[in-house]
Amino acid sequence: MARLIELKGITKEFDGEKVLNSIDLYIRDKEFITLLGPSGCGKTTTLRIIGGFEKQDAGELYFDGVEISDVPAYKRHVNTVFQKYALFPHLNVYENVAFALRLKKLPEKEISERVSEMLEMVDLVGFEAKNVTTLSGGQQQRVAIARALISKPRVLLLDEPLGALDLKLRKDMQNELKNIQQATGITFIYVTHDQEEALSMSDTIVVMAKGEIQQIGTPTDIYNEPKNAFVADFIGESNILDGVMICDKKVSFASHTFTCVDGGFGPNEPVDVVVRPEDVDVVPVKKGMLRGKVTSVTFKGVHWEIIVDIDGFKWMIQTTDYVAPEAEIGLYIEPDAIHIMKKSEFSGMFGDYSSFSDELDELSDADAVD
Ligand SMILES: Nc1ncnc2c1ncn2[C@@H]1O[C@H](COP(=O)(O)OP(=O)(O)OP(=O)(O)O)[C@@H](O)[C@H]1O
Ligand SMILES: [Mg+2]
Repeated sequence: MARLIELKGITKEFDGEKVLNSIDLYIRDKEFITLLGPSGCGKTTTLRIIGGFEKQDAGELYFDGVEISDVPAYKRHVNTVFQKYALFPHLNVYENVAFALRLKKLPEKEISERVSEMLEMVDLVGFEAKNVTTLSGGQQQRVAIARALISKPRVLLLDEPLGALDLKLRKDMQNELKNIQQATGITFIYVTHDQEEALSMSDTIVVMAKGEIQQIGTPTDIYNEPKNAFVADFIGESNILDGVMICDKKVSFASHTFTCVDGGFGPNEPVDVVVRPEDVDVVPVKKGMLRGKVTSVTFKGVHWEIIVDIDGFKWMIQTTDYVAPEAEIGLYIEPDAIHIMKKSEFSGMFGDYSSFSDELDELSDADAVD
């Protein structure tokens, strides 16, 4: 797929603070690409620069090989769906969707055909005459998507478009958006801070933190081969430990030397080691590479999530076999379950699961949405 949009060295400051620090990124034609990262990392700013609502202080922005930094927003082949929909409250569903075509003064017949086609795509046939203020959140979101797609943009920018919806509706809309993107072949640049949403929808994920890109890759790359401790911690659950790469395929952490599959580090190079909770096997103490005591057990439906104290470091482990609280257990880790990362500015920032509880997790999720 050809490169449709390219950002080269895009830098942006607000009030003397760098919020984007030399972003290099290309977006392929027809791709579903997601900018993922915590609040304040620069996702919306990146999107606004691509859309032409904000201009970078340095760097270049290309569309189809042409530098477009000075092209005004309305002349770019890009449309935006905002989190707060921004529908016209005094217009009904039909007129909201028809809006861009009316501005272009297209013939009534063409408008009517294209509006019908769009309403069919977002499953709102029969809603034409309804006042948009009477619609549910999910229906309003569909109107916003139809309105953005009707002018057939090459690219759709979506800034946390599902943020206001409840979980069930959010899941449904994720599927629908993905279907619409595949059916129309329009390039989607999607912003979210929800890692599950990013993993399930995207062709490519761009993980951002502190105004910089930390990693670009497919969902499986990002999950299985995180580049640093920030990415490992942000995407999914992970046990992140200090380790030493003794030589290729030998790594030491948690006072034990393990066989792993990674290489290419210096002898005895300090590294960060990530082990996913689902990749640790619970075994009898005698058969374990590590041994520890279970400090908490939570039933999660498909598996139990247990916290295990190993020499003071609290591991999270997911197991389908029940383990009793307080039990002494052994842990077995296969070589390919161990992923080695270079030390980075994020090393040591993510501790163990000692303060972990579901309640805390939910609280911080709620914070993130506000
Ligand atoms: N117009 C502005 N004036 C001053 N500071 C701004 C402006 N727009 C954004 N910022 C700052 O730039 C930083 C990045 O903001 P941005 O909106 O891009 O973050 P984000 O990744 O979209 O976060 P969120 O997930 O909370 O939406 C933040 O620190 C924000 O306060
Ligand atoms: Mg934002």
